[in-house]
Amino acid sequence: MNFITVDSYEALSKKAADIIASQIILKKDCVLGLATGSSPVGTYEILAKMCADGKIDFSCVTSVNLDEYAGLTPDNDQSYRYFMNKNLFSKVNIDIAKTHVPDGCAPDLTKEGERYDALIEELGGIDIQLLGIGLDGHIGFNEPDEFFTAETHSVKLDESTIEANARFFESIDDVPREAITMGMKSIMGAKKVLLIANGKNKKEIVEKAFFGPITPKVPASILQLHKDVTVIFCEN
Ligand code: F6R
Repeated sequence: MNFITVDSYEALSKKAADIIASQIILKKDCVLGLATGSSPVGTYEILAKMCADGKIDFSCVTSVNLDEYAGLTPDNDQSYRYFMNKNLFSKVNIDIAKTHVPDGCAPDLTKEGERYDALIEELGGIDIQLLGIGLDGHIGFNEPDEFFTAETHSVKLDESTIEANARFFESIDDVPREAITMGMKSIMGAKKVLLIANGKNKKEIVEKAFFGPITPKVPASILQLHKDVTVIFCEN
């Protein structure tokens, strides 16, 4: 594991953007696994600027996002599809048809999970997967559990996740209670994993995840088994 500590969110975002940009430069038709939430916003801003400056080209890139809330349509400004369009896809020259987010409005989320896993397989897997980490150790929306789940699946969100994500909604009651998330098979199958975490409140869970036992009670701890994982952590 490559564990990098930086002293500002800007430095974290720059390092993460440089790693993703390198991937695009080395393989222009790469498959990027992408995340939402507050952590990657700075990274996406820098990638958009690099693209506008002609330093990177997204025209052959395909993307697959980790997760989506159940029941939120793409035009809902809290949906992860909306987030991705706003923070990255509308700002770079990616072909929107090559951007994929699980469909949280699919009538059968189990079937949607199967479709999503088949799609990732057809694409030849993920070249680099960007991850954040939840305060309870979740990656994607893989919440603490008795076992790790391999497939893309629907999940009931933990109270701590609902509370943490309430900051993006008008009220906590508006936070969806269910989501669909990529499972550990696609995440661990990514050729490279890049996890970014910032803030004092993430310190304890980052320590548990990367220096504690591997357990489904701390879902991110499974990444200790991945052979190419970079963690960028900023405590400030
Ligand atoms: C988002 C996702 C989540 C977030 C995590 C951290 O697509 O998969 O696992 O990465 O909840 O969120 P932030 O970055 O808002 O602290």
